[in-house]
Amino acid sequence: MVSMSPSAIRLARYTKTERDEVSGGVVDPSGVAETDLTWLDKEVHFGVRRQGRLVAHAGLVRVPLSVGAARLQVAGLGGVVVAPDSRGQGLARLVVTAAMEHARSLGIQFGLLFCWPDLVPLYKRLGWRVLGDDLQVEQPDGPVTMPLRAMWTSLVEGVEFPGGQARLLSLPM
Ligand SMILES: CC(C)(COP(=O)(O)OP(=O)(O)OC[C@H]1O[C@@H](n2cnc3c(N)ncnc32)[C@H](O)[C@@H]1OP(=O)(O)O)[C@@H](O)C(=O)NCCC(=O)NCCS
Repeated sequence: MVSMSPSAIRLARYTKTERDEVSGGVVDPSGVAETDLTWLDKEVHFGVRRQGRLVAHAGLVRVPLSVGAARLQVAGLGGVVVAPDSRGQGLARLVVTAAMEHARSLGIQFGLLFCWPDLVPLYKRLGWRVLGDDLQVEQPDGPVTMPLRAMWTSLVEGVEFPGGQARLLSLPM
């Protein structure tokens, strides 16, 4: 019997073709173009396909962060998109979970993402928490304050995000 419950798979590529497919042709589905920021490409991609069509995506890239005096590598999550006709069915949860499971398997302790405030409740449902302070991120002309909300999740049971001012030492993802 063929199972109807979708599962997330690692994608071999995430080119313009896949982007257009999952966004339904919407140019800036996350609405981040207005920030005028330069973004880091994601390295690893997870998705859900239905009848061959990509209907959900989440990308991942390892990024360096300083928190107070400490330095750590975290799993930067980005490019979370679900096709307009497939939303509200748990597909974002599926691809974000797959991406974070992958990061955990690499020994990474935390996930980090940036989103507009209206998506904070959704990511809280998925176990993410707001990173309080204004966070600096790198840009081609030097560091700037990230206008989006930063959120983190722990990939290791019982391990909390370290205290202190966080700063991303790369372009944001
Ligand atoms: C944001 C987006 C990815 C969500 O995709 P989705 O497949 O509809 O999300 P899911 O169905 O997996 O929902 C995830 C969880 O959030 C919950 N949720 C959804 N909207 C919510 C809201 N406004 N407040 C609180 N919880 C919410 C869902 O109930 C679900 O929780 P559950 O699994 O415990 O029931 C999708 O709307 C999208 O592609 N938007 C455009 C692109 C974008 O903004 N991406 C985010 C960039 S950071």
